[in-house]
Amino acid sequence: MVVRHDFEPKILGFLCNWCCYAGADLAGVSRYQYPPNIRVIRVMCSGRVDPKFIFRAFSRGADGVFIGGCWLGECHYVTEGNYEAEKMTNRCKKLLEQIGLNPERLRIEWVSASEGIRFAEIITNFTKQLKELGPLGIGEGKDLEQLKRDIEAAESYIRRKLISYYIDPDK
Ligand code: FES
Repeated sequence: MVVRHDFEPKILGFLCNWCCYAGADLAGVSRYQYPPNIRVIRVMCSGRVDPKFIFRAFSRGADGVFIGGCWLGECHYVTEGNYEAEKMTNRCKKLLEQIGLNPERLRIEWVSASEGIRFAEIITNFTKQLKELGPLGIGEGKDLEQLKRDIEAAESYIRRKLISYYIDPDK
């Protein structure tokens, strides 16, 4: 694939406070270099990230969404939110595919508080991948009106399904 050098993707990152956010902080303190394309929202657990947040980010101009959590088995909450986050991410990837957007625009990774270098490498790699994909929608051959309609359709689907999703995530 061709890397578009004139395009700087916008990434919205949801980072769990206890691991990935601390890993990102360590990357900064250690001065590991990575592209400045990510804007971060700190959440207490990756399991807090809601499908609505993801599609809202895409509707507001993000080219990629990143979720960073503790390694599986190391979530700081008994509910083990990172397993839920992984399931939710896979569902949202399917939905992205259904509306004709590349599911690789959504990424979930596990990063511990001591893995600053891993965080820097993941964001470097994700930014490169998004540059290859191009701007959201345009990279998929959609015009802006079509993109808006498709994301609205996904948001409306999520609104309708959300209650049953939380009652039975396997449905
Ligand atoms: Fe980090 Fe749950 S506390 S993923």
